[in-house]
Amino acid sequence: MTDEVGFERRALRVSGGSPSAILGVGGYRPRRVVGNAEVCARIDSSEEWIEQRSGIRERRFADASETLPVMSAAAAGKALAHAGVRAAEIDLVLVASMSNLVQTPPLATRLAHELGARGAAGVDLSAACAGFCHALALASDAVRAGSARHVLVVGAERMTDIVEPGDRSIAFLFADGAGAVVVGPAAVEAIGPVVRRAFGAYGDALRMDGGWTDPAPDRPWMRMDGRRVFRWAMDDVAPAARTMLDLAGVDPGELDALVPHQANLRITELLAERLGTSRAVLSRDVVVSGNTSAASIPLALEALYAQGLVASGDTALLVGFGAGLNFAGQTVLLP
Ligand code: UT7
Repeated sequence: MTDEVGFERRALRVSGGSPSAILGVGGYRPRRVVGNAEVCARIDSSEEWIEQRSGIRERRFADASETLPVMSAAAAGKALAHAGVRAAEIDLVLVASMSNLVQTPPLATRLAHELGARGAAGVDLSAACAGFCHALALASDAVRAGSARHVLVVGAERMTDIVEPGDRSIAFLFADGAGAVVVGPAAVEAIGPVVRRAFGAYGDALRMDGGWTDPAPDRPWMRMDGRRVFRWAMDDVAPAARTMLDLAGVDPGELDALVPHQANLRITELLAERLGTSRAVLSRDVVVSGNTSAASIPLALEALYAQGLVASGDTALLVGFGAGLNFAGQTVLLP
């Protein structure tokens, strides 16, 4: 056979894949609930302003014992139980996080070890608040291609480690937690085509102090131009969300659940309005969880199950977006 670059090559053997699906969902919320009054003690703001501008009433902050491996393992354990899959059956662990201060070893390898996923490989992924949907796309591609049978996808954040408590532009917004899903083989395709794109020109809108060229400060904090990110979410992410439905062959009016990254309730509600998802239940987990970055979508999904608002077989649209700027999302059938 002659391939694209004109070489005569024999084909190598590859393992056959199968359609992929999310088989189980789980989450871990830190124990400590922090209301707006407590946040306002450290910034020049008001409880009313925070709720009006972001929808947030309370969030969870992790304590010293609720580390990224601890929260990830708890979320993963629940996702495995929901899926009815044993840790030993996991071939690949993907962990998305923007707040993991330990660059090496990968959090995913530590998690695989703690779970007893002895045959698994572990890879960390840095794609900020879009990390979960990016990882989900890679996981479903791996199952479809046959390079993995079961993939554990985790979004885990301790945003309190990278957000300066006195920074009034973001201290009220971000929070901690972990969420997980198990991706595996299915009879019919249940994870739709991913739509994803990076906008590196807007990188400064959400970034760590110092960047790549300035001298690194002792303690780099995250900074955000909220207005810029908000506008981008409406101008570029909302139209792409429509494509996520179109490519999966789902009409907005047929959608059962809309689960965007829980950045801000105003963004979530505007997105639903723009898409015209009339009958879909809208995830509002940001109200009680704040913005937990890569953890927000699986945590929001778990909350919808807990509240009895979604059921097996429902169609859901997942839309991750954030620093980069960068987005990814897909339509899925829920387990
Ligand atoms: O997760 C990754 C993706 N992130 C996002 O999608 C976040 C997107 N952005 C947002 O969610 C919103 O921009 C925020 C919730 C962060 C801010 O809401 P906003 O409506 O965009 O506020 P703003 O930044 O435009 O500020 C409005 C006013 C300003 O005062 P002036 O210039 O109008 O006099 C700010 O100085 O509110 C002031 N302000 C505050 N007031 C009370 C800014 N922060 C605060 C505060 N408390 N904490």
